[in-house]
Amino acid sequence: MNVLVIGNGGREHALAWKLKQSPLADRVFVAPGNAGTARDAENVPIAMLDFPALIKFAKDNEVGLTVVGPEVPLCQGLSDAFRKAGLLVFGPSGDAAQLEGSKTYCKKILRAGNIDTARHWRFTSGEQAIEELRLLHADKPEDVPLVVKADGLAAGKGVVVCRDLAEVEAAIESIAIRRDLGDAGDSFLLEEKLVGIEASVLAITDGKAILPLPPAQDHKAAYDNDQGPNTGGMGAYCPSIDVEPALLDRITEEILVPTVHTMKRQNNPFSGVLYAGLMLCTKGPKVIEFNVRFGDPECQPVLMRLKSDLLEILLATAEGRLGQIEPPVWDPRPAVCVVIASDGYPGNYQTGHVISGLEAAAKLPDVKVFHAGTQLNAQGEAITAGGRVLGVTALGDNIAQAKQRAYEAVKLIRWKGAWCRKDIADKAIHLPQWNEA
Ligand code: AMP
Ligand code: GLY
Repeated sequence: MNVLVIGNGGREHALAWKLKQSPLADRVFVAPGNAGTARDAENVPIAMLDFPALIKFAKDNEVGLTVVGPEVPLCQGLSDAFRKAGLLVFGPSGDAAQLEGSKTYCKKILRAGNIDTARHWRFTSGEQAIEELRLLHADKPEDVPLVVKADGLAAGKGVVVCRDLAEVEAAIESIAIRRDLGDAGDSFLLEEKLVGIEASVLAITDGKAILPLPPAQDHKAAYDNDQGPNTGGMGAYCPSIDVEPALLDRITEEILVPTVHTMKRQNNPFSGVLYAGLMLCTKGPKVIEFNVRFGDPECQPVLMRLKSDLLEILLATAEGRLGQIEPPVWDPRPAVCVVIASDGYPGNYQTGHVISGLEAAAKLPDVKVFHAGTQLNAQGEAITAGGRVLGVTALGDNIAQAKQRAYEAVKLIRWKGAWCRKDIADKAIHLPQWNEA
């Protein structure tokens, strides 16, 4: 069977690499792909949102399954367009993807499913919200722990965690008055700030059966010790130490199952990856947000550990028979993924630098270098083409060894301005110290 992966990030490279290993797979295409997918699969120069061209390509090339990586084409209805054309696709419908695309819709489902989340208030007028907040917090403006969230998709820029009234007002001004994020700020939420440990739990579901994946831990801050600005994710490890099996069961029962059931009850069935961003609070897990796709970079260490056939799992999901296949087998060894980024990321950065050392890194045992923001130049060399450039991923007998192997590979790779966090997975390595926190 031929497979088409939509996207061009590290997640899509990991998906294509793993799908290509399937005995069921013939050709694996990636649209538009990157320098890594050009080597491990076949790139197709079609933009992610050009649905008619993607559908024509899938039909002309006998694609049996299309796997959608990022949220934007999902929220814009790629799966619906493919299904209407009689094509099989892994990924939720445009309506179901609103679980990520609209924070208001997400809260509606959480309320209907009686699922724990932060309290929130919705506004469409920035001026009105600021006026109400000033009245409410006149006595203590220095202590206003609120989170301001644009309702729509904002490429990870729509959430501002605030300490005091001045920060809240600045965030509202940016999102709802200046409209720095465009339409995403047509409405916005003020949310209670939750305190706890953050964790992501991902599950594959066909709308009936739910298959939780081993939990992975992202590192969202740009710099070591979780300092600096928020990013798309600077590294990840799997399994996460914060979500033990008993807690994963509780999260499945209290969050994943009611979400999938509520969506089904509301005639908006969800099929694809359900990614729950959680805060582990003293009273239990609460939902911060849902995503409707694999996490990036979490996908990379998770798929490194998957021993079963990914294509069989995604195919069964798309065909609504996930409950009938054998549960997947996971490599017991943990995996660590270190993202190497361009100088300046998550702000402005240059592109076009030639990347050296990729061949040497590829020779290391149990290491895989997943490409994200890369392209091939006219000479066939990999050059930088984005902020997050590579996700260097390694398996080890324990987390410390996986980390060491990943950084050994990182050391071999060079371009002008390349940098990475040095402390990916340290929290899991220094377990006793972490437990005291
Ligand atoms: P998001 O873009 O929705 O993933 O949010 C970005 C980050 O903001 C999350 O990973 C959390 O660290 C933080 N965040 C979002 N909502 C809350 C909340 N209610 N309380 C505390 N932190 C939050
Ligand atoms: N790594 C965070 C995300 O994929 O949303």
